Amino acid sequence: MKPEKRLPALLRAAARARKNAYAPYSGFHVGAAVLAGGRIYAAANVENSAYPLSVCAERNAIAAAVSAGHRRIDAIAIVGGSDRPAAPCGGCRQVLSEFCSPDAPVLYAAPDGQSVSTTLGALLPHSFGPADLLRAAVESRGTMRDPAGTLRSAARVRGTRRSGR
Ligand code: THU
Repeated sequence: MKPEKRLPALLRAAARARKNAYAPYSGFHVGAAVLAGGRIYAAANVENSAYPLSVCAERNAIAAAVSAGHRRIDAIAIVGGSDRPAAPCGGCRQVLSEFCSPDAPVLYAAPDGQSVSTTLGALLPHSFGPADLLRAAVESRGTMRDPAGTLRSAARVRGTRRSGR
């Protein structure tokens, strides 16, 4: 099934997770749900009295999927904001880009139902990613292990380019 077809279910899961948001400081409740390996992983934002330690809903949902063994995220839905849909923050866009392709669907919605449908590539063009590290490392060392643990040579990595980057 195409990831787009799962967006309604992702949206419902994100809205459900939002109910568990721990946001006593900002009062801004967010829920997010990611699709990975055909399954849905949902989470809410969790704040802390030491403010910078607060974690966004998107990153908590990504962490749940990755902790379950997934390394690829196919789509994400986010529910947050008040009257207008709130787009994912820059930090979460970067964390998503580690596991998503640029054409991964991103749907963000206000709790009242108004939503915006886009892709990660549109939200984070010209992104920095694992391939950039790999390219830089092989230039100095000749080889490096990629995120999958495979030993990569300079020649192979020079030919690596993810679409949208
Ligand atoms: N927040 C999210 O959960 N996701 C975002 O993309 C933006 C912000 C949370 C973090 C914090 O708990 C609250 O919203 C206010 O910034």
